[in-house]
Amino acid sequence: MFNFDFYNPTRILFGKNRLEGIDKYVPADAAVLITYGGGSARKSGLIDKVKTVLGNRKVYEFGGIEPNPRYETLVKAVEIVRSENIDFILAVGGGSVIDGTKFITLASYYKGDSRDLLKFGFMPIPLEVVSKVVPFGTVLTLPATGSEMNSGAVISYEHGKFPVMCELAFPKFSILDPTLTFTLPKIQVANGVIDAFVHTTEQYLTYPVDAKVQDRMAEGILQTLIEIGETTVAESENHEARANLVWSATLALNGLIGAGVPQDWTTHMIGHELTALLGIDHGQTLAIVLPSLLEVRREQKRAKLLQYAERVWHIKSGRDEEKVDLAIQKTREFFESLGVKTRLSQYGVGADKIPVIVEQLKAHGMTTLSETQDLTLDISQKILEGSL
Ligand code: NZQ
Ligand code: ZN
Repeated sequence: MFNFDFYNPTRILFGKNRLEGIDKYVPADAAVLITYGGGSARKSGLIDKVKTVLGNRKVYEFGGIEPNPRYETLVKAVEIVRSENIDFILAVGGGSVIDGTKFITLASYYKGDSRDLLKFGFMPIPLEVVSKVVPFGTVLTLPATGSEMNSGAVISYEHGKFPVMCELAFPKFSILDPTLTFTLPKIQVANGVIDAFVHTTEQYLTYPVDAKVQDRMAEGILQTLIEIGETTVAESENHEARANLVWSATLALNGLIGAGVPQDWTTHMIGHELTALLGIDHGQTLAIVLPSLLEVRREQKRAKLLQYAERVWHIKSGRDEEKVDLAIQKTREFFESLGVKTRLSQYGVGADKIPVIVEQLKAHGMTTLSETQDLTLDISQKILEGSL
């Protein structure tokens, strides 16, 4: 196992009827900005409920944060934070609203051009660059990204999606009430299952470092998602299944399973280009890329793929090659069982688009990806060709 630092200060309030926690953890005299998305939280009545709990606090609202939140939208909220002296932000929504809120909070006290904050990539923004933020909490409405308990965000600007990491961007608290996700369209639930699944494989399907706890936690999350995936997509009000999805998605990307192990974020990096260029949903891009990536990288990932085959899919017989084949096939079938297509061609994208996608990977510096940093552009191209 590698050395690691683990830090996660986010308080989790899990379960039904937890909105009262807002009153407890938002300072009584705070001027509060509620951030939300395109309207689902308003339509469901959630924004009104949150405002009721906030009581006499001075409340401002900023709606319209779009999926794959855009820099141009978020800077408008930064203006409100500054002009109204906002002391606390409450993000009500999915990963996009929460990520957008992280950017708003980081940009609010930043003196320079806030596009600078998009240039750090996976390197955490140093505290000399951003030393003060507006504290924020979240009310999660879509289980998928883990953004509710991590310090990362992904912000869209021009034709790119830019990771932004900073230890000041952890939520103070997150309310995870599975019933708040019951209004989700099926495709968003399926996207969420796949996002959580792929976050887990990206911290697990690399090479062995004898990290027994992290491996078994990752396998537990993967097995849980496989067990409840179809049910939680089909039965939108099945509380037990949804509760397990919510907590799996949070644990998949709150730092625990990634501590002390190699990580391979290639699927996400290629997926980001597919969203930015072609508008394919985040979860769907992952369902397209992962099976092909596992095929192309089966030699580099052989030991962990065998462990995955045996422990997650219970494939006990056959030659090693056959076990790996079957594990990859079962992964694809699992995504498809959720109603998500796993081939680029099924999204109307042909081979002619691949050079453009590879060009964008190059433009964004994604030229040495993977756990061993030897996944060059020609290998990304092979992965894309395999996903057609
Ligand atoms: O905008 P509204 O009207 O709220 O509708 C949203 C949106 O259209 C809707 N929705 C959310 N909760 C709902 C609901 N509809 C009905 N009922 C509810 N309860 O769902 C749609 C998608 O929402 P979005 O927030 O975009 O989805 P998700 O949570 O999957 O977030 C995706 C974003 O997160 C980033 C992705 O890149 C993408 O931009 N990621 C962030 C990560 C992080 N911070 O750690 C990691 C992830 O890998 C991911 O990259
Ligand atoms: Zn993701």
